[in-house]
Amino acid sequence: MANGGPMEAVKVCKNVAQPLTESVSAKREGIAIGRTSLKVRNPKNKPDETDRKILESWQSSKDEGQGIPDFEVVRLDQETVRFYKPIVLQEVCLNCHGSNEKLKPELKTLLDECYPADQARDYQVGDLRGVFRVDMDRDLID
Ligand code: HEC
Repeated sequence: MANGGPMEAVKVCKNVAQPLTESVSAKREGIAIGRTSLKVRNPKNKPDETDRKILESWQSSKDEGQGIPDFEVVRLDQETVRFYKPIVLQEVCLNCHGSNEKLKPELKTLLDECYPADQARDYQVGDLRGVFRVDMDRDLID
């Protein structure tokens, strides 16, 4: 964003975000990091059943005026524990996740090309955009 503006940043997001999270996961055996949302831009980030439960429950908590929890830890199975942290939409995110009217035309074209099934627009500041998710083998935390 700082060096090339949103256009460069989108290319970085597309070319780097996935390999980067994959390499972080691979680097430390027993840890897998991801981002997900009820409305994803990249279908690769789509929520699994557990993600969806957390996302829906945090969204209703927010809708009911009770705010969003700081984090939540879920036991996935005997071996795996999953940690969730909310991702809240900020002003700068509107450059790429705001309404179509707010997107720069060339950026909109690029997003349309790279993400034909994009659902991650029309957000407003303060919205629950999604969650960070870290899966850890229990051996690491015992
Ligand atoms: C320069 C454009 C740009 C900006 C600014 C931007 N994003 Fe994104 N965002 C993207 C792109 C492109 C993807 C898809 C990345 C991929 O292919 O995995 C994405 C994906 C995501 C995802 C993963 C889920 C999904 O929809 O696939 C989350 C969560 C997210 N962004 C949150 C944010 C938040 C919060 C901010 C502000 C702090 C932000 N983004 C700012 C372009 C942007």
